[in-house]
Amino acid sequence: MKNSLSRRGFIRTAAASSAALAWLNARRGPNVFAANAGKPALLGGTPVHQGGWTAWPQWREEWGEKMLEVYRSRKWFRLSGPQVPEFEKAWAEMLGAKKALAVASGTTSLIISLHVMGVDAGDEVIVSPYTFIATYNAILNRKALPVFADTDPATLTMDPKTIESRITSRTRAIMPVHIYGMPCEMDAINAIAKKHKLAVVEDACQAWLAEYKGRKCGTLGDLGGFSFQESKHIPSGEGGAITSMSEDLIDRCNAFHNCGRSCGNFKGTGFFTRGENYRMTQAQAMLLLQQFNKLKKETVIRQANADHLSAQLGKIPGITPVRLPENSRPSWHLYAFRYDAAGFNGLPRDKFMKALAAEGIPNSSPYREQYFDGLLDEAINSRGYKRLWSAERLKAYRDSFNDLKGNKQACETTVAFTQNILLSDRSAMDEIIEAIRKIQAHSAELVKKA
Ligand SMILES: Cc1ncc(COP(=O)(O)O)c(C=O)c1O
Repeated sequence: MKNSLSRRGFIRTAAASSAALAWLNARRGPNVFAANAGKPALLGGTPVHQGGWTAWPQWREEWGEKMLEVYRSRKWFRLSGPQVPEFEKAWAEMLGAKKALAVASGTTSLIISLHVMGVDAGDEVIVSPYTFIATYNAILNRKALPVFADTDPATLTMDPKTIESRITSRTRAIMPVHIYGMPCEMDAINAIAKKHKLAVVEDACQAWLAEYKGRKCGTLGDLGGFSFQESKHIPSGEGGAITSMSEDLIDRCNAFHNCGRSCGNFKGTGFFTRGENYRMTQAQAMLLLQQFNKLKKETVIRQANADHLSAQLGKIPGITPVRLPENSRPSWHLYAFRYDAAGFNGLPRDKFMKALAAEGIPNSSPYREQYFDGLLDEAINSRGYKRLWSAERLKAYRDSFNDLKGNKQACETTVAFTQNILLSDRSAMDEIIEAIRKIQAHSAELVKKA
């Protein structure tokens, strides 16, 4: 433990010295690593990484006065103070969207978007199965059926080739999920939507500032939803936003999120449309407004560190970095790669993950095949769903989960690090690479360890 600590301290203080640089370069050489790999921590060796990782969420004392200003003003509600509209303007500008709406959460951003795009009881929405469960729930909230396109295990996002076979006369929308902030193949998805006259609602809840072919995620379909929940890159405890290139659609979202009050192009001043209360508070908007520069700077750091990890991890047999669409920049809410035990003498993924955690590198296998977990059975066995679909359709729907071979593979082979790990310095990224090389070099021994 001590060795590694002093080694990192050494890098920081003596990086300018040629001796240190020579040592660092030698340390980065792939073959040197394999030959000299120390014992894995799980076999009694020294953990590669010491001292924890960036804590999340973060607070800056200089934000305090602005937050107090909001509370002292006693204008806390969306319609009484200026911060929510200021945030909406700034968020739209930063993303290059025509307009944005602040809302209560990522989940509500998706519910509102689906409602506004006309997704109604008995409709079907084609969606990515590889996502946080809130994506499924937003569709179920509209009493619609989440129909799963398969996941491309190479990209972890919706495989556009599997969309058209899922379209029925009830399909109303496609909902691509930019999972971990990795943009979906939006050109292909939009082309299918156009051909079949379907709406596109992007789940960009993990994709703040992510880019696809020079445009930001959340501006590529009809409407895009974001989350600002506490774990997110720009958090306000809870919170969300919807963006669009259509002012009219955002006005409709605004009306629905504000108890049905008319807005913009929706003429009149009263309640004239169905609506719910999904408003953001002024204090949440103020907290978000202060994190714009931080988000921009940290996005660049995460991207640089992720690029470095992908370039180096891709050289290790058994590790495959995720394939990204051409000319895209992910936001990396999680950094994910695929693990193939064959490259590690058959070491099962859970043992690999345990060995990596023992090196001081927290990791997870984020999503299961959650369509088998009971949530969808509960929905399709409910009175409402039985009324809305035939028994044959619901049976075929349930059976179709077994066809999601790509998603099964994605769930079974992915390993990921959370975004805060990518905010560390380059030497910490090298430690991650070193840890994985070390585990691989000793994988035969690790296989034998109970
Ligand atoms: C992909 C995805 N969709 C939707 C959501 C829902 O966002 P929220 O938790 O803000 O409701 C999240 C949040 O974790 C998410 O990651």
